[in-house]
Amino acid sequence: MEVEAEQTRNLIHHSHKYAPSASFVEQANLKSFEEYKRLYDESINSPETFWGRVASELHWFNPWSQVLDSSDKPFFKWFVGAQTNLAYNCLDRHLELHGDKIALIYEGEPGDRLTYTYRQLHEETCKFANTLLHLGVRKGDRVAIYLPLVAESVISILAVARIGAIHNVIFGGFAVDSIKGRILDSTAKLIITSDGGYRRGRVIPLKDLVDEGVDGCPSVEKILVIRRHPDRQLPCKMQEGRDVWYHEVSQGKSLSHEAQHMDAEDMLFLLYTSGTTGSPKGIVHTTGGYMVGAYLTCKIVFDLKPHDIYWCTADVGWITGHTYVVYGPLLNATTVVIFEGAPDWPDKARFWDIIERYSVSVFYTAPTAIRTFMKWGDEFPNSKNLSSLRLLGSVGEPINPEAWLWYRTVIGHDNCPIVDTWWQTETGSILITPIPGVTLTKPGSATLPFFGIEPAVLTETGEVTDYGSLAIKKPWPSMLRGIYGNQERYKQGYWGMWEGKYYYTSDGALTDEDGYFWIIGRLDDIVNVAGHRVSTAELEGVVLEHHSVAESAFIGIHHDIKGQGLIAFIILRQGNVGSPKLKQEINEIIGKKLGKFELPEKIVFVNDLPKTRSGKIMRRLLRDVAEGRPLGNTTTLADPSVIDHIVEEFKLS
Ligand code: PRX
Repeated sequence: MEVEAEQTRNLIHHSHKYAPSASFVEQANLKSFEEYKRLYDESINSPETFWGRVASELHWFNPWSQVLDSSDKPFFKWFVGAQTNLAYNCLDRHLELHGDKIALIYEGEPGDRLTYTYRQLHEETCKFANTLLHLGVRKGDRVAIYLPLVAESVISILAVARIGAIHNVIFGGFAVDSIKGRILDSTAKLIITSDGGYRRGRVIPLKDLVDEGVDGCPSVEKILVIRRHPDRQLPCKMQEGRDVWYHEVSQGKSLSHEAQHMDAEDMLFLLYTSGTTGSPKGIVHTTGGYMVGAYLTCKIVFDLKPHDIYWCTADVGWITGHTYVVYGPLLNATTVVIFEGAPDWPDKARFWDIIERYSVSVFYTAPTAIRTFMKWGDEFPNSKNLSSLRLLGSVGEPINPEAWLWYRTVIGHDNCPIVDTWWQTETGSILITPIPGVTLTKPGSATLPFFGIEPAVLTETGEVTDYGSLAIKKPWPSMLRGIYGNQERYKQGYWGMWEGKYYYTSDGALTDEDGYFWIIGRLDDIVNVAGHRVSTAELEGVVLEHHSVAESAFIGIHHDIKGQGLIAFIILRQGNVGSPKLKQEINEIIGKKLGKFELPEKIVFVNDLPKTRSGKIMRRLLRDVAEGRPLGNTTTLADPSVIDHIVEEFKLS
């Protein structure tokens, strides 16, 4: 982290400020720093007044008796006693004014296209909801969703929320063990999947992966299978009694449905994310507060209005997809674009083609994608008309100034504010971000807190500093409510660090003289590979499944495109010799069990790992080796000679 901190200090020293254009400010939902400051101060000093007023812009079946209940910290409750429904607020609420407006534009990788008006999306969601009820799903049941990014991803999420069940979306890039772990932990009753999806022209056999994943999962009663193509089927097996085709079972189901009244604190979804232990944790989000956070951040940070055509490139399997593909934009009656495929299929102008075709006005993507586009060259975006764009967003990892400036110039034509948004699966919505019509941005900084958020950079003992651990002082409406089945871990892991006074983010950060925040990355053993949180402990557990592997250490190192890439140091059992074939087998295990995006850049076979006398692996030293730096302090190593051998092996691998 020291290296990143030093680099960031340099950035701070050299940074310039960029102001939004007068024409952007003129039309913005929030127009001046004074207005931001006034509202921010109110949100901190009188959170109940502030959040109560924001929540009143949405529909509630019953009002709240209390905005925030802090009586049982850190188990905060928001909008106590109120009742609402997310799908109702995303759809029914807009029917009168925006019923005939396009809600969703879907483009499949092979080029198939569909649009849904708010009225049509409402009808499809009701039909799906009635089908789920017909299959026995009830309020509170867990429903896993494992789909490509097709319109049914959005529809099924809304349908599950509509009937008051709990969705657990599993990213389509996850493989068998990742599916199984999530289904077992959440005891899902039903799984929604499809016969397949497309990625770079290949069919991904999602149903086959689900079949393997549910093996040994007794909670699963039904698998609901959507045909990727409306009129033909991709090859997959159906198990009688368990598996049902959506197009068959949904026939004749009503296009209307009365949304379930949900308590504000009823669970809305579970989303699993990597933690420091081997198994992912199920982050719990509830209904009312999450809805308010998703709504307001979209309105203010993306400056969304009903006439916007908004495209966030995330998959719905990540939190970004939940909050900023589905819920947030629909709560704001915006038109949402989704795209199933890869940015370079069939050619490297595919994203820009989509922006041109649908006149996308707000575009939200990840630094890793921006760096990839930069590498491909300006000719691809330059070949399309991107003049509809008015605002650009970035999320998932720190954005380097080169990428930020390229994004601003080549994609935004120096005309679009960039919002570098910092947040996490746990936070539910954006916490640190520029406000596009207000904030002077500095490339590489997520800048200032959103309403209601009081961040601080702290030392281990809780003193405020300008380089340390990023912490959040106050609860906020869309915060996680816990870890599914493990509230003690929630309490200790997120609120234990400073005796319950702050939420611990696990990120390191710096602040500058303007009070801007510069996030430098994770302080724990999570590696951020292309914006995806990967747990080294989980990888280390999985490679043990290869009979030749005795022990391993995975680390994250700088990667020009992905931000971070993984390096695996592996000790083999006696009698085994490292070989390219063995590397391939280990990679196959990772790809098949967890997902291909978790593959290491390099596997290094070593005799030993650098450990302290108490047996803890010194990953910092492994990182020094892999990034070619002089080694840091080695005096705490149990056996300092170990590291010389690792340096040699790394060079040879
Ligand atoms: O390290 C931070 C990084 O992504 C982590 C959260 O990952 P996840 O829960 O998967 O959510 C990603 C999408 C919100 C954080 O702990 N991160 C996210 N956004 C930024 C970021 N790091 C720097 N700058 C950002 N804008």
